[in-house]
Amino acid sequence: MKFATRAIHAGYDSADHNRAVMPPLYQTSVFELQEIGEAMDFSYARTGTPTRAALEGCLASLEGAGHALAFSSGMAAIDAVLRACLKPGDEVIALANLYGGAYRLLTRVMAPQGVKVSFVDLSQPERLEEAITPQTRLLWLESPTNPLLGMVDIAALAAIARRRGVRVAVDNTFATPYLQRPLEMGADVVVHSATKYLGGHSDVLLGLVAVSDPALYQDIRFIQNAAGAVPGPQDCFLTLRGLKTLALRMERHCDNAEQVAALLDGHPLVDKVYYPGLARHPGHELARRQMRRFGGIVTIQLKDNRREAANRFVQRLELFALAESLGGVESLVNHSYTMSHGGMPPEQKAALGIVEGGLRLSVGIEDIDDILADIKQALAD
Ligand SMILES: Cc1ncc(COP(=O)(O)O)c(C=O)c1O
Repeated sequence: MKFATRAIHAGYDSADHNRAVMPPLYQTSVFELQEIGEAMDFSYARTGTPTRAALEGCLASLEGAGHALAFSSGMAAIDAVLRACLKPGDEVIALANLYGGAYRLLTRVMAPQGVKVSFVDLSQPERLEEAITPQTRLLWLESPTNPLLGMVDIAALAAIARRRGVRVAVDNTFATPYLQRPLEMGADVVVHSATKYLGGHSDVLLGLVAVSDPALYQDIRFIQNAAGAVPGPQDCFLTLRGLKTLALRMERHCDNAEQVAALLDGHPLVDKVYYPGLARHPGHELARRQMRRFGGIVTIQLKDNRREAANRFVQRLELFALAESLGGVESLVNHSYTMSHGGMPPEQKAALGIVEGGLRLSVGIEDIDDILADIKQALAD
């Protein structure tokens, strides 16, 4: 079956649930045994629930994975993968321009526990070859990156890592499996903040992991149950409902973002537009190969690179809400310097190009005429 069909049907069989067309919410922490020692699909809700299993089955199908695992947030999903792959003395090589929360987890939680964390500019895949050491166990990638929409060649990097016995994890939050499937390019594990496009309505916090290797799956599943950072049934239900319209929503996000990027590109008050769909974006050709379309996020840098100028723009926007998140049906704007990347040291932000006059637009699926009109009026003199 094709992607849009699987997004609606995979992971769930109504015959197992009184023919309920939508997966029921099993709002229970525990399931009853008939006799001591009975083998049950579900026993205690930390270990698994039918609603969570339906969600995990659906995401596994969409990522082309053998298995998926749900967590209480994207960060909990990232944390479980890091802990399953790394022990003290091991090294993780991470993309230099990583999401601020992942950067914080690596530098302030994993590193103090004895994991060596190395940040490398992987825009040229050969750099990975030089960076790998005998201690390297994991390569951590994000593509496109948050917030500057940088691209890395997942297939080329995964081929190098595989040859050197290093596992590859990809944060696929920005692309979603509709636009990009890293496991098909050689990655070992994919993580998502389903809080974003997969949920799609800014009403749920949830993380997902997709993995095919049975041993790695078992290790991550062990941590999921042992540490217990699992989502409740309501959050699983909401994410499942979001997944059903993922294909439709992503098409519209991409349509709208392409037009927003075209409007802002060359605007007299805008210095830079970061969008992989623009022909002069350094990752444009790679994005054409690696992704179905270019996604719904457009990041800009104003010519007046001061916080006051960014603030003036966001205050004048009427449709776009100033908010941390992205990927919902509604348009949002984020000041990455103080918000999503607030936890990153200023010198690191400066090195990456995350500046006071930079704004990340999560282009929603409202009517494009209203979105363009709002941006035009907010930028008018
Ligand atoms: C790329 C990326 N990965 C992971 C996360 C963390 O997800 P959550 O906020 O669901 O914990 C985010 C959140 O913004 C993100 O943008």
